Amino acid sequence: MRSAGRVAAKVLADLCRAVGPGISTRELDELAAVRIREFGGRSAFLGYRGYPCHACISVNDEVVHGLAGGRRLRFGDIVSIDVGVIFEGYIGDNARTVAVGGCDVETQRLLDVTEAALYRGVAAAIAGNRVTDISRAVQTLVERERFSVVREFVGHGVGRAMHEDPQIPNYVDPNCRQLLEPGMTLAIEPMVNAGGADVRVLKDGWTAVTMDGSWSAHFEHTVLVTNHLPEILTREA
Ligand code: MF3
Ligand code: CO
Repeated sequence: MRSAGRVAAKVLADLCRAVGPGISTRELDELAAVRIREFGGRSAFLGYRGYPCHACISVNDEVVHGLAGGRRLRFGDIVSIDVGVIFEGYIGDNARTVAVGGCDVETQRLLDVTEAALYRGVAAAIAGNRVTDISRAVQTLVERERFSVVREFVGHGVGRAMHEDPQIPNYVDPNCRQLLEPGMTLAIEPMVNAGGADVRVLKDGWTAVTMDGSWSAHFEHTVLVTNHLPEILTREA
């Protein structure tokens, strides 16, 4: 899981470095394919329930599961990049949202709050805590900042399979209060909308967008629960 996490982190970092005005989402996806192959891994997303791309690339009001294509990124856009890699039988899963060149102050606040919410969630991934402690940490910060948490998609256990138990909602769900134990590996991934929480899926069957057209950010790490502090596995070093 450490190796898989490291590879996923390196690929994500490469894609984020390649983001700039004029690049197409397809070019980013091709870079994902090349880099994952160079590291000796495979995309965990390609072919998953028929998903047709190597990475999930979601622009502006697209929340998650965007499909790469001919769209070219423009200065001021934001792009969420989600990379899942299978490496030696284990999966690392991580995501981040970056501005294309730059963005306005309120959009930057959306990115900062979503990233901070991820780290609040990670900090709550302590043995003896429950999934609800992660959920509450994320939700509290996001809503205090007057943004909203997406309900339809959740974090998850991750290991040899991409989606394992437990589910990790980014809002407190009393049905999801599993006890956290050392050795569990979790993908914690807040998806945060600048406007309302509601999302819908486009006719392509994949791309989730905000119902109100507001922009959305997504940050994710794969994390190991230990006897002490949580260990972030999707780190480059
Ligand atoms: N990080 C997302 C998840 O864990 C990505 C899944 S995309 C899919 O659920 F295409 F593979 F479905
Ligand atoms: Co995930």
